[in-house]
This record gives sequence, structure tokens and C-alpha cells, in this order.
Amino acid sequence: MTLSILLINGPNLNLLGTREPEIYGSQTLSDVEALCAAHAKTHGFELASFQSNTEGAIIDEIHQARGKHQFIIINPGAYTHTSIAIRDAISGVDIPVYEVHLSNVHAREAFRKHSYISDIAVGVICGLARKAILRRLTQLLPITKNKMTRDYSETISRVAALVEGEEDVIAKMATIACELYQSFDEFHWVGFYRNIGNDTLKIGPYQGGHGCLVIPFAKGVCGTCARIGDVQIVDDVNAVADHIACSATTQFEIVLPVFADNKLIGVLDIDSDNLAEFNEADAEALSTMLRNSF
Ligand code: DQA
Repeated sequence: MTLSILLINGPNLNLLGTREPEIYGSQTLSDVEALCAAHAKTHGFELASFQSNTEGAIIDEIHQARGKHQFIIINPGAYTHTSIAIRDAISGVDIPVYEVHLSNVHAREAFRKHSYISDIAVGVICGLARKAILRRLTQLLPITKNKMTRDYSETISRVAALVEGEEDVIAKMATIACELYQSFDEFHWVGFYRNIGNDTLKIGPYQGGHGCLVIPFAKGVCGTCARIGDVQIVDDVNAVADHIACSATTQFEIVLPVFADNKLIGVLDIDSDNLAEFNEADAEALSTMLRNSF
């Protein structure tokens, strides 16, 4: 899957090329956007560009980035120094944001030294030539991507405390499904399928919309997980030929085998409609939780 960057340019940046060229250079906004898109493509990213002179429109665009873009690069223009609302929008969507400025804001008027964005951005670049900004960004984006793993530590501790001393498998499954569903907004369906024998899985405790009731070991991602007893990570469920679509909106899925006394008692299935990017780190953390619980 190609990662997507949203490039946002704020007020007056539509005037680039003619606006104070001694400070901002002679390239137009379209030149900058085309350069960024081409550069992003060479490094395996998609790039969508947006410019507005209006605070509310920028905020709306940031909100709409959820589930669509994995990174935001923003030059908020003068809103950098004034807009708590844009800051709050960035905090609210939980997408890594890079703040960029064409000029060196620290070498200009005193009022440009303060930014409402910098302390919540993962990186700030200013005062470099456009090409140098792009070079630096393409070094930073993959590093950020590798850090985009979920932090399971609190959830693992909570689950451990809740299921301690509990023998009933269904009670433990229900507790884990609830905790995972509530801990991560991007988990849209979390549930267990129980191994009921005859190479068949049957729905167990779950959170989210309705799940399929019965899944044979021979079918779909859950079936494969049960059959081979190993974690399945699917980046695009639509690409799986025999995927059993319980929900039409699911895009990403991770399924883990659940063992008790070395016997397969079921599978844990987590689905997401967003770009959830399940990876080995998820598999490791969730397997630890399951091992500790059953
Ligand atoms: C700017 C710096 C801001 O202080 C200014 O208001 C802008 C452009 C830059 O790119 O250097 O509009 O963000």
C-alpha cells in the first residue's frame, strides 16, 4: 500500500512567485506542489495538495485527512503564529505532522518566532531551499513510519489485572475483546472465534458490528490462521481471494491463534476500516497478551 502525504499550504501562499520573492523565492505554488508530488513519488509516497486562505477550511481538511493520509506536511503561513484552532485540529486527528516554512522565521520579526504548531509536530523545517526541505522530509518520513507502532503496554497491564485468577475462557475472551476495542480507535471489530472441533470456528465474544457465526478452517483469513496456527496479517482484505466479508468496510485485518495448554482454542480477529498498518510489532504484543491470559 502506498502511503499518502497531505501537503497543506496556508494563507497567502497562493501568491508564491510574486509575493515578496526576495523572501519566498520565484517559484509559484503550483511549481512547489508539482515538485513535492514528483519527489514524493520517487520515494514511494502519494501526495495530495491543498491550499486555503481560510482557517476553517484548513481545519476541515485536517479532519478529513483521517483514514486517508498517513502524514501531513503543513506550511500554516501566518496562522502558525496565531491559530490555536489549527493546533487543536492537528492534535485531534493523531496524524504525524511536519511543519515547514520557506523563510527562516527565527531570523525575521519577533512575532514570527512563536509557533502554535512546533511542539506538537514531529519535525519542523524552515529557511532551507525547497529542494533541501524535500530532501530532509524524505529522510524523516520513513523514520516516522517505523515508529508508527501502537503502544500496547497499558492495555496489556489492564488485561492482566482483569483476567488474573479467572478460569473461564469466555469471560477472558470477552474482557480482552472489550479492552482492545476501547483502547484503539482504529480497531473497528475485535473478537474471538472459538475452535469447536470438526475444523470449524464459531463466533465468540466480540465488539463492533455483527460477526459471521461460523467459519470453516478451510476458508478466509481466520480459517487459515486456525489451520496453520500462525498469525495472519492482511494489508488489504480485498486482495484475499476467499476472504469472508463480515463487514464491507473492513480493509485491514490481523488474526492470531489462541492456545491454551498447547491446544488451539480459537483465534483473535481484529479488523480496521482505516489504514491500520498491522505489523510484526502488533503481532508480538497481542501474542504476549494472549499467552499471558490463556
Ligand atoms: C511562512 C512564514 C510565516 O511567518 C508567514 O506568515 C508566511 C510564510 C514561510 O513559509 O516562511 O505566510 O510560513
